Amino acid sequence: MAEPVQTPQAAFKPRIFSGIQPSGGLTLGNYLGALKRFVEKQEEGIETIYCLVDMHAITVWQEPEKLRQQTREGAAAFIAAGIDPARSILFNQSQVTAHAELAWIFNCVARMGWMSRMTQWKDKTAGKNAEAASLGLFAYPALMAADILAYHATMVPVGEDQKQHLELTRDIAIKFNNDYGVTFFPIVEPVIEGAATRVMSLRDGTKKMSKSDPSDQSRINLTDDADAIASKIRKAKTDPEPLPETLDGLKDRPEARNLVNIYAALAEMTPQAVVAEFAGAQFGTFKPKLVELAVARLSPITTEMNRLMQDPAEIDRILGAGADRAEAIARPILDRVYDITGMIHSRRRTM
Ligand code: TYM
Repeated sequence: MAEPVQTPQAAFKPRIFSGIQPSGGLTLGNYLGALKRFVEKQEEGIETIYCLVDMHAITVWQEPEKLRQQTREGAAAFIAAGIDPARSILFNQSQVTAHAELAWIFNCVARMGWMSRMTQWKDKTAGKNAEAASLGLFAYPALMAADILAYHATMVPVGEDQKQHLELTRDIAIKFNNDYGVTFFPIVEPVIEGAATRVMSLRDGTKKMSKSDPSDQSRINLTDDADAIASKIRKAKTDPEPLPETLDGLKDRPEARNLVNIYAALAEMTPQAVVAEFAGAQFGTFKPKLVELAVARLSPITTEMNRLMQDPAEIDRILGAGADRAEAIARPILDRVYDITGMIHSRRRTM
């Protein structure tokens, strides 16, 4: 094995990569924790690459026709939320085979122990028969590392729940660089910022809002109409206390804290500013204001998504064009990886 080497970050140009699984409809959590922030990053003028990770989705069973539909719906959500496919690269993972190829190499870099310690793996198999989980579910974080590192991405905007996976991505990059004595992969920076890095269930403030929660009342879907949004927020679990004057007063009030965070993220305010504005108000006053805000922000996105979904061929065209641009970045990087790892690739010559 070669001598360990330092990876100087300055050698890599700033590039953002992030992904969303099309394993169900997108939620308000995905919107506030990811999509909305993806749009902000695009506006900052950094190169942005966004991906619907269909190969991650099949780590648990997906009906093929539903997966196709959800991938298109996910793409429509990106565009409706403000991702411009001319400025950002938008595509679905399986169209760029570099992801799967690099994931295999990372399967050989990552250690079984690293994967076994992933809390998402432990949560998803807790109380179930782990032996019956797919091998893909176990190896999932290596594919995620490949998604990011196939582009030499340096920054990855995500919600709080992805932090551990990004630490593993760093570990894989460091081990690859050390094993092969190269300064090849960047050490990525997780970008977890804003008021809504962890949007919680509307029914239980200690659980993450998730597309896989059996209760539809627990989440707001990006496909929900104004009536559904209003009804879910009105029925959201709260406590009998009024809103406090400072955030300290929301300690041990997870449901109240969640609604304040959602309001803050939608209004682009800090949670402190929200409690200052509503100090002393009962939820009977606060909830209708939150409904008004959520409908004003989300309805235009839902309407645009529905319009885009009328033309699936156009969505497929956008995803294909994005995949061509993604491939042009990833392929030369993969060629170098094969070279570094000692594999003969004499059929393709890009170097
Ligand atoms: P996924 O599909 O579960 O979620 C997509 C993004 O949405 C964020 N998110 C949330 N943020 C705040 N509150 C919530 N309740 C909430 N629920 C979801 C997630 O943190 C994520 O940013 N493994 C990833 C997908 C992925 C990926 C990647 C991400 C695959 N390859 C490469 C970044 C880079 C996942 O399952 O996200």
